[in-house]
Formats: sequence, C-alpha cells, structure tokens
Amino acid sequence: MSKKILITGGAGFIGSHVVRLFVTKYPDYQVVNLDKLTYAGNLANLTDIEDAPNYTFVKGDITDASFLEQLFGEHAFDGVIHLAAESHVDRSISDPMAFVMTNVVGTVNLLNTAKNSWKSDFSGKRFYHVSTDEVYGSLHNPEDFFTETTPYDPQSPYSASKAASDHFVRAYGNTYGLPIVLSNCSNNYGPNHFPEKLIPLMIHNIQTNKPLPVYGKGENVRDWLYVIDHARAIDTIYHRGKTGETYNIGGFNEWKNIDLVHLLCRIMDQKLGRSEGTSAQLITYVTDRAGHDLRYAIDAHKLMNELGWEPSLQFEEGLEKTVDWFLANQEWLENVTSGAYQKYYDSMYENR
Ligand code: NAD
Ligand code: DAU
Repeated sequence: MSKKILITGGAGFIGSHVVRLFVTKYPDYQVVNLDKLTYAGNLANLTDIEDAPNYTFVKGDITDASFLEQLFGEHAFDGVIHLAAESHVDRSISDPMAFVMTNVVGTVNLLNTAKNSWKSDFSGKRFYHVSTDEVYGSLHNPEDFFTETTPYDPQSPYSASKAASDHFVRAYGNTYGLPIVLSNCSNNYGPNHFPEKLIPLMIHNIQTNKPLPVYGKGENVRDWLYVIDHARAIDTIYHRGKTGETYNIGGFNEWKNIDLVHLLCRIMDQKLGRSEGTSAQLITYVTDRAGHDLRYAIDAHKLMNELGWEPSLQFEEGLEKTVDWFLANQEWLENVTSGAYQKYYDSMYENR
C-alpha cells in the first residue's frame, strides 16, 4: 500500500540515513523531508537521492505552528518520523533555550498538527518519535543497563528537553489516542556525523595534527551503534512496533572515551601511513563537561526479541568504514568545518 511519510530533521546525521533507507527501500512511498537546515542540517548528505521521484525536500521550522498546519494541509501524511532536534550536549549547556524551542515546543507543535489534521481518525496513522538514551540519566553501577522501564532522570539541558518531548508524545497517546511509538537510542557514529561530536572531531583533528581534547579523565563510557543500524531499527519499529510502546536501541558496545580515542589513533596511524603511536601524542586532557554523565548502556533485548532487529556490524569494522568515509569525503568535511563552525570550535575549546 502506498504511504506518505513526513520525516523531520532528514538533512541531519541520522535523519539523512533514515530518509535514504525509506526512499530506496520503499519506492511506492512518498517521503517528505522537513528540515530547517540549521548548522547541523546539510543537503549534501542526500545528493545521491535528491532527484528520486518519491522524495521531496521542504525547508521549514517545526517551531512555526502555522507553517506546519499549511504543510499538513498540502500533504495527506499517513505517518511522521520525528528526528528534528538540537542534538549536541555542549551547545545545550551554552544555549538551553534553543533546545527548549526545537525539542519541546517544536515536538508539541508537530503532535498538535498531526492530531488536528488527522481529525481523530487515526486508522493507518503513526507518529514515531526518535529519542535518546540520555533521558535515563547516568549509570554508576557497572552491572546496570537502561531498560524501557528505567525511570527518567535527565541531567543536561539537552536530555531534559528530550525527556520533556518524550513525555508530551506519551501524553498525546494517552489523552487523545494519537497512535504513537518511541525509541531511545545510544550514541551513533558513521558517515555524515557532524564534527562537533567525539568520533568525527577526533578523526578531523588527528588528520590535521590538532590536539585531541579528551574531557576530564576520559573515563566516561558510551555505547556506540553504527548509524545505518539505527536507521534499520527505525524502519523495523515504524513498520512493526506496537502502538504506544517504547523500544531501546543499542549495540551492546561500551567504550571508555580514552580507549576509543586510542583505537581511533591506531586506525588513523595505519590509514595515514604514520608510525604507530604518532597520533596518540596529540591526546590532551581538557576541563570536563559540566554535569558530565558517567556511563550510558542500553539493554536492547526487547527490540531484538520482539521485532528481530540486531546490529549488523562489529565496532572495529564500523569504525574503519567511518574513517574511510571521512578520508574519502574531504570536501564535505571542509565545507562543514569552515565558517560558523570554526567560530564555535574556537569558543568551545580555546580556554578549556
Ligand atoms: P543532527 O543535529 O545531526 O540533526 C538534526 C537535524 O534537525 C538537522 O538537520 C537540523 O537542521 C534539523 N533541525 C533542527 N532544528 C529544527 C527545527 N526547528 N525545525 C526543523 N528542523 C530542525 O542530529 P542527529 O544526531 O541526527 O539526531 C537526530 C535525532 O536522533 C535527534 O532527535 C536526537 O535527539 C536523536 N538521537 C541522536 C543520537 C546520536 O547519537 N546522534 C542518539 C540517539 C538519539
Ligand atoms: O547517547 C545518545 C546521545 O549521544 C545523543 O542523544 C546525542 O544527540 C549525541 O550528541 C550523543 O551525546 P554525547 O554527549 O554522548 O556525545 P558526544 O560525541 O558529544 O560525546 C561523547 C563523549 O565524548 C562524551 O562523554 C563527551 C566526550 N567528549 C566529547 C567531545 C565533543 C570529549 O571527551 N571530547 C570532546 O571534544
């Protein structure tokens, strides 16, 4: 059956992989990508599918309710996959209000518009909200994992704004019967990752012989998942997840930041023909992130057991593919690291 799907934030890192998967895997679907094109949104992420007959890009802002109403009036959407967000924790510390506006107000606008445009006839409709494991807070006992029933305990302005948006999505399901589904995923990595985030920032700095800024002692732990595996999970949950349910997504792949940076240094030494240990000399410990969450670790058994999803790549393989992608896409990297981003980088790291 043909479907019309609105994907928000489709020009960003994860959104662009979700758009590509849906446009290529479901030629009978119409995919509309709505994105404001903030510093993180980049249409160069989608050049390979931009002319596909089942793909349309619309530039717009989810904080603008009347724009959304017009968009839903023009397109009879069957479903929404909502990824648009401010996504970087460090930016949320310096400018929390931008996160309240897009992540909270924008999400409520989208929920309202979907509810009103579907006029309470929700048959065949679905509102899928893409969220993060950071809403669960920080783990301190090494045996603990985040499950779907872990109480929310967000610690940064970013995670607080995502937690608020998750609560609104569930409230719309409970109060109005909006057919919602949610997922909370761990740290993604892969092609098109914006270089303000740990892995692409380190790749870029190793390549350009700049210091590798490790926050605090580098002891914080993150659970890494290849972005295409996240996109596959979103496809699975959008089509087969139960209405009203939440699914945790993760790779059972925990790394201390410092170990991960050393691994990247080794891979980069090989790729760049440097002798082993050269890039690791660039490692520099810097002032810790304020309120830095110690450890995230997702228990993804519900998604694996109930819907049959599993990660497709081992981490070392995924990391090598990622390094290869960045080395082969210098122009992409140069475009996003020049101008406004360079100013952000200088202000974030100069006095650290
Ligand atoms: P990103 O920052 O790379 O992309 C966000 C996109 O949203 C950009 O294209 C941006 O232009 C767009 N956008 C921002 N504000 C908008 C607005 N007001 N209106 C319309 N578009 C707007 O983010 P990402 O890393 O791809 O994350 C996508 C989603 O997945 C987010 O909701 C994030 O919370 C969630 N998530 C991310 C990760 C991760 O590791 N990156 C992990 C779990 C969940
Ligand atoms: O867990 C999912 C979340 O992962 C997503 O919801 C967020 O959108 C995404 O940005 C990511 O958040 P993190 O804060 O974990 O990612 P980041 O890449 O910013 O940092 C990863 C770890 O590396 C974290 O412990 C902080 C540390 N770090 C980061 C940067 C940018 C450094 O040590 N040095 C750095 O320069």
